[in-house]
Amino acid sequence: MAISSRLPAACSLLMATLMLLIVQAQSITRRYDFNVQMANVTRLCASKSIVTVNGEYPGPTLVAREGDRVLVRVTNHVAHNMTLHWHGIRQLRSGWADGPAYVTQCPIQTGQSYVYNFTVAGQRGTLWWHAHISWLRATVYGAIVILPKLGVPYPFVAPHKELPLLFGEWWRADTEALISQALRTGGAPNISDAFTINGLPGPLYNSSAKDTFKLKVEPGKTYLLRLINAALNDELFFSVANHTLTIVEVDAVYVKPFPVKTLIISPGQTTNVLLTAKPFYPKANFYMSAAPYSVIRPGTFDNTTVAGILEYHNPHSASESSFDKDLPLFRPTLPRFNDTGLVTNFTSKLRSLATPQYPAAVPQSVDRRFFFTVGLGTRPCPVNATCQGPTNTTQFAAAINNISLVLPSTALLQSHFTGKSRGVYGSNFPVLPLSQFNYTGVSPNNTNVATGTKLLVLPFNASVELVMQDTSILGIESHPLHLHGFNFFVVGQGFGNYDPVNDPMRFNLVDPVERNTVGVPAGGWVAIRFLADNPGVWFMHCHLEVHTTWGLRMAWLVLDGSLSNQKLLPPPSDLPKC
Ligand code: C2O
Repeated sequence: MAISSRLPAACSLLMATLMLLIVQAQSITRRYDFNVQMANVTRLCASKSIVTVNGEYPGPTLVAREGDRVLVRVTNHVAHNMTLHWHGIRQLRSGWADGPAYVTQCPIQTGQSYVYNFTVAGQRGTLWWHAHISWLRATVYGAIVILPKLGVPYPFVAPHKELPLLFGEWWRADTEALISQALRTGGAPNISDAFTINGLPGPLYNSSAKDTFKLKVEPGKTYLLRLINAALNDELFFSVANHTLTIVEVDAVYVKPFPVKTLIISPGQTTNVLLTAKPFYPKANFYMSAAPYSVIRPGTFDNTTVAGILEYHNPHSASESSFDKDLPLFRPTLPRFNDTGLVTNFTSKLRSLATPQYPAAVPQSVDRRFFFTVGLGTRPCPVNATCQGPTNTTQFAAAINNISLVLPSTALLQSHFTGKSRGVYGSNFPVLPLSQFNYTGVSPNNTNVATGTKLLVLPFNASVELVMQDTSILGIESHPLHLHGFNFFVVGQGFGNYDPVNDPMRFNLVDPVERNTVGVPAGGWVAIRFLADNPGVWFMHCHLEVHTTWGLRMAWLVLDGSLSNQKLLPPPSDLPKC
């Protein structure tokens, strides 16, 4: 071989090595220390001791770039058991880091720590993290910001600034006491006292004007707001007075941009919006408001409004002026609390970008079809007790295919991995309701649910179609269903009972929205498709915390594939024990 032909070979080897080094340099490991500790916080004129991460409320923002490895050391310094969930992170083969208590792990006990170790793959945008045990996520939550790879721009105008806006829910009472009390009586837990934006209730609540989130903007600039609904039990409308929002991403997947005056965001969901400030100084302030969407009777949900203030930097004032409350203030018109029409209109506009760079990998064929009813129900009151359920002889319950999931006292994933599932779970979750009825018609006489711990087993890489049907038992309601470990495509939705003959003809298999949490319409159904390419045990539940507590939850078991890179990794050595 001539020397002249070897030189380029050596050169290209050098180039390849350099490229590899650059690519590796782009993916880094990000380490976080999350100390779970109590903190005193004053809201609505009263101070309260709450569980936090690092004393912050909301908790710290976790920032990573697509491709990065993230290591979060969580140390529990409080009297409660704790787990954290990285909501929406795919957790490819790393189910041990997913976080739902008694599903993928035993809780981190007081004084113990656990390192959540995962890689952010193929996702960019906004997600969030929260406690995943009991109702502790009421105060233990924060944003996850996933930046695109270095040098890769957003598929929309580069914002001047970007920031998370977390919607939360505040109770004067201790939420752990509140839910354990509700579970004792079988009744509905008390509704919240306020909603918050970045932990602040704002001027529409008593003595809270000083606790108002303010966003200061420059005329003509564009801002990326990373909206996160971290409320426990309420879907929220959001609107900014006299401004239009452009939706560009949901659940860390880009969407075809579209403008709205008002958007809907359900607990668990994230939405990135662009807000373009007016070209000239408007000499006014604007409320940014959120209020609940609910089809249940008024009075049984927190029908209050949280407001933050959008203010403009005054170009005629030399100093960085403080908030000018003498300026006129504009309020947005929020829809009526039960405006299902607006919700349907908004969700039907959500479409995947579906470009060569950001394709929509919708499964075009289906290996396994499932039909789940989701909704409320009852359990009988224990003998010799009086209950405060729908009647004094019943307690509230909720179920999927009439099974209210009972969590074991050990973790499902550990039982599966160690082959010790006997006595912990069954593998016979029903693929359709055991008894069929007119799901959205007159409710059946017997509203009791069954209880059990059953998984639905899927072979690796099965392509799944799942229809989730709301029931009218104890009243129709919208249920934001969240699937761990996967994104899914929302291929169809409608009202009334799902029609397996005609409805599939209208499915969108081209550019359906891809997400991790979808609202099952009140009195309707939604159809999703996903590829079961992630081995492990994956929780699926209503993200209204009260419904999860009542049992509107199930879990999938996705088996290992045959190749070595298709298997669940072994558990880390510090995985907590029960
Ligand atoms: Cu955001 Cu299983 O939860």
